[in-house]
Amino acid sequence: MAPVPSFPVKVGHIDDVQELNKAKLITVPERFVRDMADRPKLTANISSSSDIPIIDLSKLMEGDKDERFSEVMQLKTACEEWGFFQVLNHGIDLNVLENMEKVAKDFFMLPLHEKQKYPMAPGTVQGYGQAFVFSENQKLDWCNMFALGVEPPCIRNPKLWPSNPANFREILEIYSREIRELCKILLKYIAVSLGLKGEVFEEMFRVAVQAVRMNYYPPCSRPDLVLGLSPHSDGSALTVLQHGKDSSVGLQILKDQTWLPVQPIPNALVINIGDTLEVLTNGKYKSVEHRAVTHKEKDRLSIVTFYAPSYEIELGPMPELVDEKNPCRYRRYNHGEYSKHYVTNKLQGKRTLEFAKIQPNNSN
Ligand code: OGA
Ligand code: NI
Repeated sequence: MAPVPSFPVKVGHIDDVQELNKAKLITVPERFVRDMADRPKLTANISSSSDIPIIDLSKLMEGDKDERFSEVMQLKTACEEWGFFQVLNHGIDLNVLENMEKVAKDFFMLPLHEKQKYPMAPGTVQGYGQAFVFSENQKLDWCNMFALGVEPPCIRNPKLWPSNPANFREILEIYSREIRELCKILLKYIAVSLGLKGEVFEEMFRVAVQAVRMNYYPPCSRPDLVLGLSPHSDGSALTVLQHGKDSSVGLQILKDQTWLPVQPIPNALVINIGDTLEVLTNGKYKSVEHRAVTHKEKDRLSIVTFYAPSYEIELGPMPELVDEKNPCRYRRYNHGEYSKHYVTNKLQGKRTLEFAKIQPNNSN
């Protein structure tokens, strides 16, 4: 969640989708209606064999030698072939997750004028509104977002941290601390799964940047025409997603050119590899494209944490992962510059990663 763009942004009027839903319109406003090719197919009935991998963190951390080895191997396969996995037994107290879900939901349920006290300025990514909108003719997502920079303190915008719900700030602090620890642990095992020393990312990232985005998808009368969230990959190193408990299924990942729904497992967290880890691992671990779809009757809440290196650092593929068979595919760059590039462009599949590719026309 980097700096504000330095160019003027004209986005036109953006309807608040919760208000549209309340108005019980039968037709969806044109700006939300996707071009034919981008519309979701809602009929897919996917067998459980195509569910994303599951990693049991307690086995990684406390299992016997064989269990640890086998779990590390599963983590490696998950990162290489899926870029996504669900983590069980993550060690975070369920009250912390429940409290976060409750204050996020309570926030979205506030009257519009109350939420608008924390506005996301056009072209920026913190506050309440729709991020990644840069023009008047860009299609809009059927989603309300509330996003906040959390760590380090210099990326915080305290004016956007709401005083209503009253305990929001305190709960977000506790939640963010726990998720940060989880990210560090996961990155350690990800390093191990690459044959690297466990501390390599922690040392490289310096004071990591952490931001949270709460996404609320109200029901939509025409889920076949709209998207909840445009296809994209995350600019982070790791992303941690928590699904609301009674939420509809909505997250989809692109695997072998097919959109697969992610079936939430109660109390598990969904983890995905972001662009930064794709670059660091020279493409061995993939930052996979994903999107969200909406539901005719049910709403959906997701709480998403992005964990990334300090803006200060320079990064590129790690030398250990570059050799004759795996030539270097990305250039070195400053992470702050990449973050800026990411937040000043609309979400468009994996387009933003072209920034780092050595051969931009190389198909991925
Ligand atoms: C995101 C994201 C998916 C979801 O916020 O980057 O991919 O299901 N969210 O809300
Ligand atoms: Ni995402």
